[in-house]
Amino acid sequence: MGNAQSDLNALEGTSGPQIISFIINGKTYTVNPQTVDNDIGPEYKLVDFIRDKARLKGTKYMCREGGCGCCVVTARTRDSAGELVSKAVNSCLIPLLSCDGWEIATVESLGNQKTGYNAVQQRLVKFGGTQCGFCSSGMVMNMNSLLESNPTSKMKEIENSFDGNICRCTGYRPILDAFKSFASDCPEELKRKCGDIEELSCSTCPSRTAQCLETIPTSLKAFSFKDNRIWVKASSLNEAFQTEERFKQAGLKYRVVAGNTGTGVFKNDTDNVQAFLEITSIPEMQRITVGSTEIILGGSVTLVKGIETLKRAGALTGFQYTAGIAKHWGRIANTPIRNVATIAGNLMLKNQHEDFPSDVFITLEAVGAELSIASSPTSIVRIKVADLLNYDMAGKLVLSIHLKPLTKDHIFRSFKITRRYQNSHAYVNAAFCMQVDKKRNYLVVGVPNVVYGGITDNLIHASATERFLANKSLRDEATLRAVMQVLDTEIKPDSRPPDGSQAYRKRLTQTLLYKYFLSILGLDSSNRVRSGGKNLKRNVTKGQQTYDTDKTTWPINEPILKLESFPQVSGEAEYINDIDPKFGELFGAFVLSTEAQADLVSIDASAAENLPGVVKFIKASDIPGINDYMVMTDTPEEVFAATEVQYTGQPVGLVIAEDRDTAFKAVELVKVKYANISAGVVSIEEKILQAEKDGSLDSLFGEEVKSFDFTSSENVPGVQKIVGEFQLGSQYHFTMETHITICVPKEDGMTVHSSTQWMDLVQSAVASTLAIPANEIDMSIRRLGGGYGCKITRATQIACACAVAAYSTNRPVRLQLDLDTNMKMVGKRAPFLMKYEASVDTTGKIVGLKGKIFANTGMQPGEETSELAIGCLQSLYESNNWQITPSNISTNTPSNTWCRAPGTTPGIACIENVMEHIAYTLKLDPVAVRLANAIKTGDKILATDGETFTGENFIPKMLAELKVSGSIEERKKFINDYNLANRWKKRGLAIVPMRYYVDYTSATKLPVYVCIYNRDGTVAVSCGGIECGQGLNTKVAQAVAFELGVPMDKVKVKPSNNLVSPNTDSTGASVTSELCVFGAIMCCKILNERMKPIKDKAKGATWEKLVKLCNRAGIHLVATYMASPEDNLSNYNVWVVNATEVEIDCLTGESKIVRVDIIEDAGKSLNPEIDIGQVEGALIMGIGFWTTEKLIYSNGSPGLLTYNTWQYKPPLPKDIPEDIRITLLKDAPNPYGILRSKATAEPPLCSSVCVLFALKNAIFAARKEAGNADWFRLDGPVTPEDILLKCLTSPLQFSL
Ligand SMILES: Cc1cc2nc3c(=O)[nH]c(=O)nc-3n(C[C@H](O)[C@H](O)[C@H](O)COP(=O)(O)OP(=O)(O)OC[C@H]3O[C@@H](n4cnc5c(N)ncnc54)[C@H](O)[C@@H]3O)c2cc1C
Ligand code: FES
Ligand code: FES
Repeated sequence: MGNAQSDLNALEGTSGPQIISFIINGKTYTVNPQTVDNDIGPEYKLVDFIRDKARLKGTKYMCREGGCGCCVVTARTRDSAGELVSKAVNSCLIPLLSCDGWEIATVESLGNQKTGYNAVQQRLVKFGGTQCGFCSSGMVMNMNSLLESNPTSKMKEIENSFDGNICRCTGYRPILDAFKSFASDCPEELKRKCGDIEELSCSTCPSRTAQCLETIPTSLKAFSFKDNRIWVKASSLNEAFQTEERFKQAGLKYRVVAGNTGTGVFKNDTDNVQAFLEITSIPEMQRITVGSTEIILGGSVTLVKGIETLKRAGALTGFQYTAGIAKHWGRIANTPIRNVATIAGNLMLKNQHEDFPSDVFITLEAVGAELSIASSPTSIVRIKVADLLNYDMAGKLVLSIHLKPLTKDHIFRSFKITRRYQNSHAYVNAAFCMQVDKKRNYLVVGVPNVVYGGITDNLIHASATERFLANKSLRDEATLRAVMQVLDTEIKPDSRPPDGSQAYRKRLTQTLLYKYFLSILGLDSSNRVRSGGKNLKRNVTKGQQTYDTDKTTWPINEPILKLESFPQVSGEAEYINDIDPKFGELFGAFVLSTEAQADLVSIDASAAENLPGVVKFIKASDIPGINDYMVMTDTPEEVFAATEVQYTGQPVGLVIAEDRDTAFKAVELVKVKYANISAGVVSIEEKILQAEKDGSLDSLFGEEVKSFDFTSSENVPGVQKIVGEFQLGSQYHFTMETHITICVPKEDGMTVHSSTQWMDLVQSAVASTLAIPANEIDMSIRRLGGGYGCKITRATQIACACAVAAYSTNRPVRLQLDLDTNMKMVGKRAPFLMKYEASVDTTGKIVGLKGKIFANTGMQPGEETSELAIGCLQSLYESNNWQITPSNISTNTPSNTWCRAPGTTPGIACIENVMEHIAYTLKLDPVAVRLANAIKTGDKILATDGETFTGENFIPKMLAELKVSGSIEERKKFINDYNLANRWKKRGLAIVPMRYYVDYTSATKLPVYVCIYNRDGTVAVSCGGIECGQGLNTKVAQAVAFELGVPMDKVKVKPSNNLVSPNTDSTGASVTSELCVFGAIMCCKILNERMKPIKDKAKGATWEKLVKLCNRAGIHLVATYMASPEDNLSNYNVWVVNATEVEIDCLTGESKIVRVDIIEDAGKSLNPEIDIGQVEGALIMGIGFWTTEKLIYSNGSPGLLTYNTWQYKPPLPKDIPEDIRITLLKDAPNPYGILRSKATAEPPLCSSVCVLFALKNAIFAARKEAGNADWFRLDGPVTPEDILLKCLTSPLQFSL
């Protein structure tokens, strides 16, 4: 490689330093990337400038691959015609150098506590659309961008544009409602809800400032960087090709840059690239021509512009088919990506990665589009789209895409089958285009185009199938049968884990072609099969939230807005990564094991340590104290593997560098040698097989749990035995804030900012790891960007590693995990397997249940265990003759950990599966079977010696209520009729009741501290519970305001810290809010008691006056309290019923959730708005667990295959129920609970297994038609692949 500056000077017209200018929130920034002290390079991203240079922390990042949306900002640019365009962009993918001339708006520009909040922010708050708040600024900016670009959007468009913003907490319904209130077709009920927001006048609606600096640059810009790399922005084709020529001559490896979103999919594509050529300002490549004989789209036309053009062109004679392409492209990636991603960029990803399932490629190929490929401004050739696959593109550009008119008889249809409906790549995509003469019995004229993606790298056309279909009638069943045979022979999918199996992908090629037949025949197909030609149609989401509120007790039971929601929607809320870098701060990045089970022979970090900017490599031997971060448990776990590794992804060390990028680069340079390598086991089945082989099966089992002296029910007359198995998968917590710790050495120890749900564990473990006293560690935690259990124990490993780094370098260290590391290294929800034998009488009552429950605990069996699940298995049932045996299976995966509703989720799902199995086998109503087994007063409690059930079983009355409010009987009839009328679409309804036992005994140590300030009577509170989005602080403030009799605005809840809340239990198990509220009430009682004598004397004194008098009298206006066993807090039950209805497409395996009704007993809710939010959020996390979220491990290396947003799919807005109705049970104050309330955060997640049974019922309906009415096993998660294969759909059943 030559010298960068001389290479650069050689480019015509580019001598001397060059600058870029852009505006952020009204302020102009001029950047000279060549400045020596500048760390801005070609891969420096907009998000980093916004956060690190402009110091605007409202914009967050998590995945850095365009898959989560928390980095979205509004970009205002000019298009090729000079028009101002506002668009949402993922700032994590935009190179800063591409922002020349842009105006960028971040969440800070919309409003804040000083200037007031704008309409988008206010509505998100008003509708309860924030919990942890980490996604909120991205949500706000996505909506802001939409309003700027289209102020009259309809509800559907608004919902569609949230296809790239993940919220793990809320379940989306409140966010969608908030933003749909801006729609031109907003319904009255939503308008009413925002009626009392002051901002309804348009003056406060978002408006664009139109400060965009320039139009299209007219001359080439070029930059060279400290690391000798080069960036050139060409403004004409001439410049582009000249630049390419220079790069070639200089022997530089270079990359053409358009939207740069390809790096979100293929992250390593920029490895070793020395020069970049940006082509987005070349006018010829942005041109769009729509003529009667040709449509030409420039290569740099964005997907969104392409979609708009093709949609409009659909009205033109000969181009009707383009509307179908536009529709298909609308499902590529997500809105912010489509706003910048170019058509040529997408096609080129296919050229470079044959296995890339490009949607652009297959749709354009199916309609015979052509590409203009230029190797100079004048040397241009036309090629077919398919030819691009093997075309040598070195030194060439895709100049434009050309579409020709087709006859009115040409019919185009395309399909995209994905794990999740939105923002998901295709397992299989297909596009068919045939000239069909409907008058001649749907005759295919000539050879049609049958194009598939996702089958093999080279298969584009199913050529034999195409030849076969030529001149055949699509209305002829013989043709249909025969063409399926041809496809069967022709299609041989390759294996591509973790994407769909070969069997599934092959079947899809047949079912999609059949769908095409049906869609074309329309009314000429028979009634029962006709709907098979249509895709599942999703309506705009709607919801109902029903609860009572008792004004006499306000602010208790008042639906108050969350205290932190305004700072969250304005970016003012501080998360750990928003803490300003400390002087001399370093950055850490983990080096992970690439083997599943091996001895560690050596670690050579010399190359990494020699990289400029790297300070040190830390490993186990650098730990001054004990190499164990689980210090408060009896299952030690190493911070860094010392002598052996036990799973792929286990940390073996940490690189410490001056900055983030250097740290991650250096990680790649660390060489680890292993010996005695074994592939290990990753699943329960493998471990059982292995144990069966080596005769160690018995050793897998623990002591059996019996609720009674088990008596055998075998051979009892009238009793039938039902045998089965059921399995649940794992789940990644998907906190939007990944694990993070900042450690700052100081004069008397260390300050530790950790995103932990358990301060005491972090404090203890850091002290033990560093071998320093616990009182040398200061901790303070304002909030977490989501927890869901993953930050209870697992945050500690990150904290300890960071502390060792800070200790060893004596400098502050920030250790923030990137998504890949977080997913590979950290444990998740434990998978479970239950094997059961239930003996049942003719009413479905269980007279004996024998079960074995296996938990895959990962490397260490420390946390979610089979014993825990057994404790929850009983749910609402009598367990008098149950005998369950636990088994904890350790595997070569990270130690699994607490995940929202641990134990209860597998326990309840397993027993509900047994109930479903009984009902199906005995042909009984599943609800009747459940009621036949319902627990009664005096029945034994499983797994707790001597305890019996007391109180009322709420379920019968809740089911009766659900039957009416959910119109269950009418809907059952509708479903029955619907299923009879439709062969390829089936609906299913299921009902799941449940009991969730709230146990205070495990975690009560949550100290609370309340102080009153004499100056103005204001109150400050801090508690040991950690605010992670559950509304803990708001509930505590409500309780304090209530008990002290002061207005809410007098109360502030401060960060948790280990000085006022030492020795805490963890925040989890849904009880933290209640216990902190209890502690706060007790503090207030103490304070009231102390103040009482003064209050009695100073009758009628205002609160402020009273406080002053008390202070003068020397009363200590501080109280602290921690619940203890002496408080005799009673455990209690939470009751929930859930009815879920789904629809499936038996030809694709896709599904949608039509409606969910939940009635939850929340006692007398402390804050019904917050509790509804908890219910909805838990429900949707559960729906993700049972449907879209599948973790796939391989044995040995590479271990986890689904470690990024490309592969792992938590729900997006279109995965939630279309109609979601939540009721908090009325008139159900909890006599045992704190302020008569109940916990809400976990039970709905357990009840979400209902979606699995609803899917199963729909599949049953399909199987019966396929000739199999037997019970079948369906495990979670249920993916489209499972649905299609379990439906037993086969071409033999196809008819017209
Ligand atoms: C989260 C996410 C989800 C996605 N989902 C899908 C999906 O479901 N379906 C799908 O099809 N795609 C999907 N994509 C891919 C997306 O469509 C592409 O990233 C995008 O189209 C690439 O366009 P770009 O302009 O950003 O290209 P860049 O990233 O700038 O470039 C990509 C490649 O093309 C080359 N290149 C760009 N323009 C030209 C040109 N004119 N001539 C020659 N070479 C050129 C570049 O050198 C580079 O090698 C997804 C991407 C992301 C990030
Ligand atoms: S951080 Fe940008 S999309 Fe996730
Ligand atoms: S509020 Fe959306 S991720 Fe937490």
